[in-house]
Amino acid sequence: MKRMQWMVLLALVLAMPVVAQAEQVAQARSPDGRIVVELDLNGEGRLAYRVSRDGKPVVADSRLGFIFRNGRQLLRNLALDGQATRSADTTWEQPWGERRFVRDRYNELRATFVEKDHDHRRFDVVFRVFDDGVGFRYDVPAQPALRTAEIVQELTEFAVARPATAWWIPALEWNREEYLYHRTPLAEVGVAQTPITLRTDDGLHLSIHEAALVDYAGMNLMRGDSGALRAMLTPGSPTPVVRTTPFATPWRTIVIADKAGGLVESNLILNLNEPNALGDVSWFKPAKYVGVWWSLHLDQETWATGPRHGATTANTRRYIDFAAANGFRGVLVEGWNPGWDGDWFANGWGFDFRKPTPDYDLAGLSAYARSKGVHLIGHHETGCAVSHYERQMDQAFALSARLGIDAIKTGYVCDAGQIERQDVAGGPVLREWHEGQWMSNHHLRVVKDAARHHVAINAHEPIKDTGLRRTYPNWISREGARGMEFNAWGQPPNPPEHEVTLVFTRLLAGPMDYTPGVLSLTGKGGQEIGSTLARQLALYVGIYSPIQMAADLPEHYAAHPDAFQFIKDVAVDWDESYVLAGEVGEYVAIARKARGAGEWFLGAMNDRHPRTLSLALDFLAPGQRYRAEVYRDGEGADWRGDARFRFVREQKTVVRGDVLSLWLAGGGGAAVRFVPVGG
Ligand code: NOJ
Ligand code: CA
Repeated sequence: MKRMQWMVLLALVLAMPVVAQAEQVAQARSPDGRIVVELDLNGEGRLAYRVSRDGKPVVADSRLGFIFRNGRQLLRNLALDGQATRSADTTWEQPWGERRFVRDRYNELRATFVEKDHDHRRFDVVFRVFDDGVGFRYDVPAQPALRTAEIVQELTEFAVARPATAWWIPALEWNREEYLYHRTPLAEVGVAQTPITLRTDDGLHLSIHEAALVDYAGMNLMRGDSGALRAMLTPGSPTPVVRTTPFATPWRTIVIADKAGGLVESNLILNLNEPNALGDVSWFKPAKYVGVWWSLHLDQETWATGPRHGATTANTRRYIDFAAANGFRGVLVEGWNPGWDGDWFANGWGFDFRKPTPDYDLAGLSAYARSKGVHLIGHHETGCAVSHYERQMDQAFALSARLGIDAIKTGYVCDAGQIERQDVAGGPVLREWHEGQWMSNHHLRVVKDAARHHVAINAHEPIKDTGLRRTYPNWISREGARGMEFNAWGQPPNPPEHEVTLVFTRLLAGPMDYTPGVLSLTGKGGQEIGSTLARQLALYVGIYSPIQMAADLPEHYAAHPDAFQFIKDVAVDWDESYVLAGEVGEYVAIARKARGAGEWFLGAMNDRHPRTLSLALDFLAPGQRYRAEVYRDGEGADWRGDARFRFVREQKTVVRGDVLSLWLAGGGGAAVRFVPVGG
């Protein structure tokens, strides 16, 4: 080649951009072979993963890494230093839940990466690929160059590869998780909490969340410049996460389903949690409960002592009698303890959980309840003075256990970021977030201590659910979303879309104490609740929780004996659960088989547009006839005005293979009990 030609070639090469060539270094496949995860290292030694299904990208190249406060970021100059695979296929049993048996089948890839220079820090990424999605976590070994990791941010990305619609609530806002869901294009998501639900324009459903949030900050998602969603850890004092090595992060999860119902039926989050650490938990009984509660939110009675105090001995006896007469196991009583007088909101330093107010005969009421087969349910509102609560909780749980109070509702009412942490009595008070690392540890301290006393915990204003009920089955339920209480307060109530969105968003994380069954359909000042009567019944099947409240006042149930019958009959613990039909934010129909019994229940709920569902009763046992007790919207029913009370209760005989046609009013619903009949 002539000298001139060489020079031209050299000039061309120099002008070329430096392309960081990516090289695939590891791969894993789901047991059915449809989902593939690939790991790449590019020319800069940056690590990325991607996920495809049936050969089509679902998550495009997405970065992995960390930013530390006490060291350089862990992001570039990485090399693969080994990989290992393994497979598992086991079935485990839930002590209580939506289904009794859960299959846990996956292929696992563990890939080890090491920095090529500097400190030669190392970490593993562990991927578990299931038929219905992917979970992955960082597993960081003990090492001299990383004894303590002060994690400012995780650089984990989720670059969803297809245009999609997203259902999400904002993160780091003052009202914690209690927001209505936004429905926006994925490209318009701001800073979102998880689980976030996506439906791609070609109809694939995705839920991005996390599993086993232990000793770590909750993960939010922020849409970055590239359009990818990126992990954004909840802040902490002073760093979101501080861990000494070795440690593993929570699992980052992507559930993938063709239908919206596939997200609900997935067990991926539970499967990624550790097995039951408590052993026999048969002391927790899934059950329905009533309580001194709705009256407080209607402002008819007060938490504070005084002439309208709700938690009096006489009033509580009335609720115990009502529970016993109607087969409810639990009676929740709020305002039973000192601390509610004055300004309790975000101010829990005056709460005492070890003794009742003078007008509340705690011991006498517990004995009275026990004589009627009823158990009081405790209430520990912390007002966010969390360290103050921790100092009392062991004595409080011991007191509860002595009195047969085997479930406690906790509460953390204050604005986000205002949790009060005081490591030493009398010392400085730090502020933490409900979803931060410190609270992830707090909740486990509560649940473990309660378990020692055989007490179950239902946390309101909680940290988000990440499936820890598998490991600690006394963590029975939580709120963690906008519940029924919003319908009481005389503000705009929950719109008809809310509950049919919750099923496909918040409920993917775990059970919710939504507190259904307000048959009066009316809040404070006569405010209409945007629901038909039948819809209130459907909630018992649609929104899963092993404890379900009959939230309305006894006198309101007396006014609706027909509808109330379903609330008395419906089960709370299940052998099997199936989503028969559903679209996110539009409608859903769920069938569940009562645990250890032949009965099935069905709940269907609707958005504001009337529709008819044709539901195949293929779940019923073959060769068995059933009496279907149908509670449905009556002709002309609607979620507005008097039409919300239009309601029909009827019976028919059905067998497996029949198709049940159900008309659902706008904001309506239907509930069905299937009772096996002889002959
Ligand atoms: C908010 C809870 O969600 C509600 O159920 C409770 O009554 C109040 N806090 C008072 O603790
Ligand atoms: Ca609440």
